[in-house]
Amino acid sequence: MPSIKELISEYSSNPLFRDAEATEILINSGPYRRPTRVNDNAFINFDKVLTAKDIGSNSSLSTHRMLLNIYEADLYFLPRDPKKLDRTAEKQFYNAGNLLAGEKVRPILENKAFSFLNSDISTQGPWNGDMMLTYFNEYLQREQADAKLGFDASPLNRAILNADHPDQAAKHYLIQMAPDFLSESSAMARYSLGGYGQVQSALFNILIDEYGASVHEQKHSSLFEKAMASVDLEPDIHRYWQFYQASSLALTNYFHYVTKNKTEFFRYVGALFFTESSLINVAGNQSKLFKEIFGTHVDTLYFDEHHHIDRHHGDMVLKKLIMPLLNEYGDQVVPDILQGFEEFRYLQQLADEDLQAQIEWAGHINEAIEHGKNLYAQIEDGSVVVPLETFLEANDERSTTHTHPDDRLLVIESGEMDFWPMYGEEYHFRPGDILFVPKHRLHGSVVTSPECVYHQPLVDGMMRRYGETDNQEAECK
Ligand SMILES: [Fe+2]
Ligand SMILES: [Fe+2]
Ligand SMILES: [Fe+2]
Repeated sequence: MPSIKELISEYSSNPLFRDAEATEILINSGPYRRPTRVNDNAFINFDKVLTAKDIGSNSSLSTHRMLLNIYEADLYFLPRDPKKLDRTAEKQFYNAGNLLAGEKVRPILENKAFSFLNSDISTQGPWNGDMMLTYFNEYLQREQADAKLGFDASPLNRAILNADHPDQAAKHYLIQMAPDFLSESSAMARYSLGGYGQVQSALFNILIDEYGASVHEQKHSSLFEKAMASVDLEPDIHRYWQFYQASSLALTNYFHYVTKNKTEFFRYVGALFFTESSLINVAGNQSKLFKEIFGTHVDTLYFDEHHHIDRHHGDMVLKKLIMPLLNEYGDQVVPDILQGFEEFRYLQQLADEDLQAQIEWAGHINEAIEHGKNLYAQIEDGSVVVPLETFLEANDERSTTHTHPDDRLLVIESGEMDFWPMYGEEYHFRPGDILFVPKHRLHGSVVTSPECVYHQPLVDGMMRRYGETDNQEAECK
């Protein structure tokens, strides 16, 4: 019986998932190429479940990257540019060996990724269908009241507006939506098969809207493509793979998880109700945010359409899915519907906080440089004693984007490197350059000189502003 590590290593040995090359900070070779940090997997304990605090960790990133690759083997992709169709890569992604290797690790990864939701959220108690409907109606009323709040009321939107370059931060935000919206409602389509009465047809009705009633230009994913293109982002599937944060992948993967596993249908319905009804305000505010930042040339139809149609979809999920299910199957389905509603709400909140933290760091890089210099001065003058953690990398040595389990400095001793703390922000570091890199913040780099010697002293506890500083499992080199 192979060990979990052996199964993970078997799945990650697919050449499509090998670490990124120096030229692959953006993925231009088509939809099947998805670099992970294959070597890091050997350091990750896949038996140990993630907690809410770990959502930005490297083990979370690796888990969610693999999970998305496994789930997306159910979806068919072709590159937008026909010249990029690579039949070998297509076969490597969809062949039976890859599917089988993925299925062997899927339950392990799902357990690692999502178990904390069940332990953090309790829907135990004297709930019945009527109480749940009252609770959902109160939620809808609160959402309507919140519609009066400005688009800058959300801490995430404020962080984007306050970034040094709000346009780059807004693009990084759009990129976080891409893994879901460029193939929007594919997870929902998994429940179009089978036979489960009126509810099946009601769900199919929503699916038809999401697919633009077969008018390609009106398919929601097409609208999202136009939104991306209007701000000079190429809407190719996973072109910006390296810049997806783990918490964004978790949102997409959650819908795959509760649709792939048919025992989770009722959780899916609850999560769907949350997403359709919350999107009314969220999408309205996103539209205003992008107009404020990009001006009139940004195509916000995707967001305006959701602001409009999800009023209808939220209502449909409640009246045509949830209420008939309660009528037919009674209170036994209540805990799962509630669970799905609360789980997705919780995940969305975690993802917003994780993205906000990323932008508060990467969107103010001069502050992080200044802070790094101050901390390093304390190390140099001996007032703080920490190991320097020296690394040597050769020219072109690539770093598939990743996060660290602790606050670190990046101190360049010799050589040069390009460094990315988020999409669109590229920095060129030379000897003497210093940067503070907080725990769980996504970044990548490529050495651009014959070799580069740099230090990464751990500075946990020297700076608390960027988050907690407890030690975690080893999860990367
Ligand atoms: Fe949609
Ligand atoms: Fe919708
Ligand atoms: Fe790093």
